[in-house]
Amino acid sequence: MVNEKHENPKTKLLEMLRNTAGELSGETMSRELNISRTAVWKHIAELKEKGYPLSASSRGYSLTEKTDFLYPWEFPGETGRVIYQPEVTSTMDLAKSIQLSAKTKGKLIILAEKQNKGRGRRNRAWVSKPGGLYMTLSLYPDLPMAYGNRVTMQAAAALVKMLREQYRVSASIKWPNDILVEGDKIAGILTEMAGEPDRIQHLNVGIGINIQNRIPKSLERACTLRTLTGAKINRKEFLLAFMNTFNEFSWQPQSGLVTAWKKYSNTIGKTVTIRSPFRDVTGKAIDINEDGSLVLKTRNNTVTTIHNGDLCHE
Ligand code: BTN
Repeated sequence: MVNEKHENPKTKLLEMLRNTAGELSGETMSRELNISRTAVWKHIAELKEKGYPLSASSRGYSLTEKTDFLYPWEFPGETGRVIYQPEVTSTMDLAKSIQLSAKTKGKLIILAEKQNKGRGRRNRAWVSKPGGLYMTLSLYPDLPMAYGNRVTMQAAAALVKMLREQYRVSASIKWPNDILVEGDKIAGILTEMAGEPDRIQHLNVGIGINIQNRIPKSLERACTLRTLTGAKINRKEFLLAFMNTFNEFSWQPQSGLVTAWKKYSNTIGKTVTIRSPFRDVTGKAIDINEDGSLVLKTRNNTVTTIHNGDLCHE
């Protein structure tokens, strides 16, 4: 948590504007925020410039519509941990460059309105048009590298839990990292990490969620939360709910994450084929291990463990 003293004044300013029925005078803002009228005016001008629908009258200022911006000052208590860019190549690239130059370690949430070179697993493109939620959580889990996939599992379990419970959408996890709704992809997760075999130095988990972004026709099996629910979705509220749910789970081994993952998976119990760079294996998915590897029972009754690959349900 960031000390309230270091909070961006825009956080409180917006909170006041949102909690005021009519106009809020410059004088009240200046008094409540303990900053000069000129400073208030500068913050108001910056908010307007960023697109906030602010109207001004002789009595003061008011916010005329609900907004859905992802600027750091929208996240009370976390402003220092949130990084937002309107346009990036990929939030994964931005996360890496921040980590390389970081003086201190700490969790960061890196967000972008759109990505010009969003990527998925195996360097596939992740089309990232405005209206979606594109984020990278920059983390320092105390785990060996072989357990890095636990963070992918944690993000997947959190996404499915909140999609089911808060958005009433029948989401499930397709091993290893796809979130599907009735066979269509609503979200994907990409984990990249650096370290030594027995210790992760840092780990970036990138999450792309189709909220109300336009899906290109070429992507046949994709869906958005907007079309599934028929409602306009507030991405900031989605993100806050996601972070709360993510924190309900733990990447620590034996913490119950595997049980949750299995409950939300649509892979366990199915006959699947996994295509990996080394081999293709077909069998019934019978379990998942603590490190995220999938246990298959093949047709000749051999039990085999698969660590990575692309999965096709039969
Ligand atoms: C996949 O399904 O293969 C994973 C897709 C991950 C996409 C997200 S969007 C935010 C972050 N930045 C990226 O470039 N990729 C991840």
